[in-house]
Amino acid sequence: MAVEWSGLTPEIMLHLDRGVRGTLGAQLQEALRTAIRSGRLQAGERLPSSRKLAADLGVSRGLVQGTYEQLAAEGYLTATGGGTTRVALALRQSTVEQVTLSSPVEAGIAFVPGRPDLGSFPMRDWLWAWGEAARTASRSDIGYGEAAGSPRLRDVLASYLQRVRAASISAHDVIVCNGFTQGLALTLDVLREQGTETVAVEDPGHPQMAMHVRRAGLTPVPVPVDAQGVRVGELRRTPATAVILTPAHQTPTGVVLAPGRRQELLRWAEERDGVMIEDDYDSEFRYDRRPVGALQGLAPDRVVLIGSVSKSLGPTLRLGWILAPSHLAPAIAEEKHRSDRGSPGLDQLALTRLIESGRYDAHLRRMRRAYAAKRVALAEALRRHAPHLRLTGLDAGFHAAAALPEGTDEAAVIAAAGRRSIHLHGMRRYRVDRGSEPPAVVFGFGDLSEHAIRSGIARIADLLR
Ligand SMILES: Cc1ncc(COP(=O)(O)O)c(C=O)c1O
Repeated sequence: MAVEWSGLTPEIMLHLDRGVRGTLGAQLQEALRTAIRSGRLQAGERLPSSRKLAADLGVSRGLVQGTYEQLAAEGYLTATGGGTTRVALALRQSTVEQVTLSSPVEAGIAFVPGRPDLGSFPMRDWLWAWGEAARTASRSDIGYGEAAGSPRLRDVLASYLQRVRAASISAHDVIVCNGFTQGLALTLDVLREQGTETVAVEDPGHPQMAMHVRRAGLTPVPVPVDAQGVRVGELRRTPATAVILTPAHQTPTGVVLAPGRRQELLRWAEERDGVMIEDDYDSEFRYDRRPVGALQGLAPDRVVLIGSVSKSLGPTLRLGWILAPSHLAPAIAEEKHRSDRGSPGLDQLALTRLIESGRYDAHLRRMRRAYAAKRVALAEALRRHAPHLRLTGLDAGFHAAAALPEGTDEAAVIAAAGRRSIHLHGMRRYRVDRGSEPPAVVFGFGDLSEHAIRSGIARIADLLR
């Protein structure tokens, strides 16, 4: 709501610097545009009269009148009766500028896999959604809610996942959790209680997956991954009755689980009476083709799909979801109740509003464009400086892997790059079975600007050759 000032003209903090280049008129125009875009001046709000503002700023009245006319022509302001100037009502939310998050001074350039563009967190949308949640919350929303999550959020997630991930779902099977990490822990606890002893993990895979399995009192076994995804023949040779997978964009190789492997996995699960845990961590970002549907859609009674907003919005929210088969969902919800009685209720309502309002989709569209440009920057920089490197995993997400020439000492390359303040992650840290596998680097580019990506690769060009 715009502030309606009664009688008096509003004071607006505008600062003009006579010591810098550029006319005062241009400065005043830009200051007003910024105040409007950032929401400091809101739609419908009345501006001071040109006489008052001119006196406050120590400039001529003609300069202020000229500024008002210019911004009216651009659609920021409207002149209403009685010589009053207001911020235009038709100003759409999308013209509101992103809140700028300050960045810590990070020495060098860090290609960190798994880190989204933190500076693009849609703070303004989140504040709006949180405001909506606070404004519309009922008394019961402030108490202990259902441990499985807000029914509204679960409904919204159910239809969202159906629409975007081709998931097969009913809202009762959705459990809200604090990110993938908690979703996995709850699922593993339930599987252990129901008799599972051994859980397969991808190799290479997320460095902490085996640790999570061990912490749940289960035994992890590595299963190798090749260009088609996890090797199901090798999985059959293990005693595992559950497997954790990243089918949409494998961590860290970036390969997409091939259709044939999906079918093989379904057969394995039927024969073994097994469970597949689908880590759906960055499926929102796919560039050249439509997103690959979730494995869960093929076998809803065999797959536990776990996703979160950590990559789509930001890890700090600690909000995620579990889609579990009906024979596991109640036990997982019970486990959630025992562990923390449910995720924060107002945050759940805010996420509900964010998705319902279309702002979540709009943010994803913006981010898809931003990551696509970063991905092009990485591919071009590598093509230019290290044309022999084979890059995999660029179809989706914001990391890709590059195999180094045979015989390269991976650790030495990473150490040498580090001495030039370029921080890389080697493939070795993702391997469970550490033998003499081909050396490779995993480039995370989500949180780097295109410029940083290009200059980072240029600075280590000789090391990659
Ligand atoms: C492959 C993969 N899975 C899961 C996670 C953890 O996600 P969350 O923040 O939702 O716990 C990460 C985080 O980096 C990840 O890279």
